[in-house]
Amino acid sequence: MTKLHKKIVLTGACGSLGMEIRTTLAALCDTLVSVDIAEAPPTLLDNETFVQADCAKLDEVLHLMEGAIMAVHFASIPDERPFEDLLGPNFLSSYNIWEAGHRHGVQRVIYASSVHAVGMVENAAGADLDVDHAPDTFYGLAKCFTEDLGKLYWAKRGMESVHLRIFSATKVPQNARALRTWLSFDDLRHLVDRAVSATTTGFTVVYGISNNDRAPVNNQKAAFLGYKPKDNAENWADSLLAAAPPADPSDLAQLTLGGPFATIPLGESGVAAIKAMAAQSEPTSPAPDAKKLPSFLTKRGMNP
Ligand SMILES: NC(=O)c1ccc[n+]([C@@H]2O[C@H](COP(=O)([O-])OP(=O)(O)OC[C@H]3O[C@@H](n4cnc5c(N)ncnc54)[C@H](O)[C@@H]3O)[C@@H](O)[C@H]2O)c1
Repeated sequence: MTKLHKKIVLTGACGSLGMEIRTTLAALCDTLVSVDIAEAPPTLLDNETFVQADCAKLDEVLHLMEGAIMAVHFASIPDERPFEDLLGPNFLSSYNIWEAGHRHGVQRVIYASSVHAVGMVENAAGADLDVDHAPDTFYGLAKCFTEDLGKLYWAKRGMESVHLRIFSATKVPQNARALRTWLSFDDLRHLVDRAVSATTTGFTVVYGISNNDRAPVNNQKAAFLGYKPKDNAENWADSLLAAAPPADPSDLAQLTLGGPFATIPLGESGVAAIKAMAAQSEPTSPAPDAKKLPSFLTKRGMNP
């Protein structure tokens, strides 16, 4: 059977989301080249090859783009860290993928951007896709950098890109915030399929979010992609709200798209902050050790 594309390169293939989209991508091309700095997954698909490479090194990714029509760039550190730790995996890797793609005539890059590119925007703003960048962390800043990189390569080099501003991609919604932010794996796969299959995209940004009743953003301007999410976090509302922390109108973590990432100090893990908050709202769990909490939870004026 003729596939849509000859060759697609996927970076971050061994990660939690990379593993979810390999089959979707493999169905769209003759050859899927999966790339990660980690070791190969235990089994490969029939038309998949694996290359262990560091995307932060141009010479390790340059040749991989030869003959590729699309690159799907999911490799990065998916959390806040000191800027120096993110420079290679999150900033340089993006440049290398775009530059290597350009040198080998890649038509389009699909990029795993993040809500944290606009994390300081308030939920109540009803953000559409024209909202200005408002990163909440260095991690979010790397997403802004890469979105702008994509815009630059489209303007100057005619290379397309679709930037998926992924919210909270998990099997099931994990906490009360996810009632707004959940992206199911089925909807993620559908979104990736649409981004790869769309005939012309130019430079496009789209929110990676399921069909949640409480979704705080508007994807109307990317409707041409044909992304129609089906899942809805509301099905978990009763259990998630029962475990939710009390509503606090002075808490930026509750008011903004970025959630806890909006209140952590730069360089400190946002994922740890989310886990600490979940542990605190868990009625049966022991009180967390204050010394192990991210500093924002113990600082004046910050409400966990
Ligand atoms: N999981 C989410 O809800 C979510 C939300 C928003 C954005 N994203 C983005 O989606 C992408 C995938 O996230 P994930 O949750 O699967 O993260 P993950 O950590 O599970 O996977 C990332 C993968 O990238 C690889 N990697 C890191 N640095 C690399 C390098 N220099 N060269 C090659 N490979 C490298 C890692 O080994 C890992 O396998 C990330 O870019 C992340 O920022 C994820």
